Amino acid sequence: MAGPTEHAHWSSRWTFMLAAVGSAVGLGNIWKFPYQAGLNGGGAFVLFYLAFVFLIGLPVLMAELSIGRRAQKSPVYAMEQVASEEGRSKLWVLLGWSGVLGGFIILTYYSVVGGWVLAYIVKAAQGFGGFDAEMSRATFGAFSTDPVEPVIWHFVFMAVTVAIVAQGLKGGLEKAVKALMPALFVLLIGMVIYSGVVGDLGAALYFLFNPDFHTLFYQETVDAATGAVTQTFTIARVLNALGLAFFSLSLGMGTIMTYGSYLTKDINIGKSAFTIALADSAVALMAGLAIFPIVFAFGLNPGESVGLVFITLPIAFGQMPGGEIVGAAFFFLLAFAAITSAISLIEPTVSFIEEKTGKSRGVIASFVGGLIATIGLLSAWSQSGSVLGDVSIFGMDLMSAKGYLTDNIMMPAGGLFIAIFSGWFISRKNAMEELALEDASFRKYYFLVKYVCPVAISAVFVSVLFF
Ligand code: TRP
Repeated sequence: MAGPTEHAHWSSRWTFMLAAVGSAVGLGNIWKFPYQAGLNGGGAFVLFYLAFVFLIGLPVLMAELSIGRRAQKSPVYAMEQVASEEGRSKLWVLLGWSGVLGGFIILTYYSVVGGWVLAYIVKAAQGFGGFDAEMSRATFGAFSTDPVEPVIWHFVFMAVTVAIVAQGLKGGLEKAVKALMPALFVLLIGMVIYSGVVGDLGAALYFLFNPDFHTLFYQETVDAATGAVTQTFTIARVLNALGLAFFSLSLGMGTIMTYGSYLTKDINIGKSAFTIALADSAVALMAGLAIFPIVFAFGLNPGESVGLVFITLPIAFGQMPGGEIVGAAFFFLLAFAAITSAISLIEPTVSFIEEKTGKSRGVIASFVGGLIATIGLLSAWSQSGSVLGDVSIFGMDLMSAKGYLTDNIMMPAGGLFIAIFSGWFISRKNAMEELALEDASFRKYYFLVKYVCPVAISAVFVSVLFF
């Protein structure tokens, strides 16, 4: 029986790093970052995103890893144990629960987008010859609103995820990340170079790195009747940047805590976390540099929203020699990046049930995966009114509403409470012992986690209520 005492461990620091980077790097970096940067006006948003990754994400990442490692248990039990060791309220266990639940909710839409990626491997291999902006947009639109095709791919995506998780830590996850994470990096670099040569690199650099704070803070609304433009101050885009930083680092939802629970004491959490944050934000920027030169060269709209990757890149693949192979390889590796993240989203739930019931991973993973796949149908069908009618929640379709709930509310809130717990409710001595950092680095970490993270996250939350 697999109980907490026989808890698995990573084979080496290298496999842990690959798995953590594999969790972090996913659709969030290659699909969400470019489209959100596009929607939110570019440079200033990117700057805030990067600042949030290093000033808020990084300390929360370290805090999550160290809670997981200290307890050597999945988030629910880890929070229960550490809170009780520190003589704190039992209610902290709710933070563990919110992580398990959050990962579950994210996966019910993540796997739908994962399914789109799988479908695009096939479409790319068939070729996008002669695609212009219009054709590309029409193809994606017809596909994503079809009642059947995306659903099949969504099931395939979940089945692959479950199959890997069922093999356990070493047999499944480690083998998977070792083979394909390095390949993803190589291919992405290739894409960046290609785009830079054929696309409008200057415009892309300007868009991504020239901060225009006015667009970030002012929302323009055009009066339909009079055509008059009004500008209102808003913090919504700053919250989006914060949510994206958390999302792309896999934070606030127990994933990283679970991965931390498989860590041995000899691993340096500070260094590892820094490398993870660096790799993660580098991939996001590279994805931006692969996509925006093409967007601008072909006169596409950077604010294309969720379809950006699926609409813009096919145009480039359609024109390059050997584009079928490069295109299929790109979507294949994106699918892989998505799968290594999906694994990490389901892992907290699976490892919790494993600890609780002692049942086999195969059974648990199939059950949880089946449930997620079923609930995910609602996300898949929310892209068109054909099956469920036009369901709208606060003016968003169901998939966007779930994304908003997890990215903009649950993750920053999870991060806020992890920071508060680690900064105020774990004794300084214990925090120091677990992290085993040099004095100066520890002081920086502690200052960030104790003051900067709680204040900054609350400030963003509170101001969103007012602006
Ligand atoms: N970070 C992943 C991505 O960028 C998604 C992800 C995996 C995630 N595990 C998570 C997001 C836990 C939030 C919480 O695609």
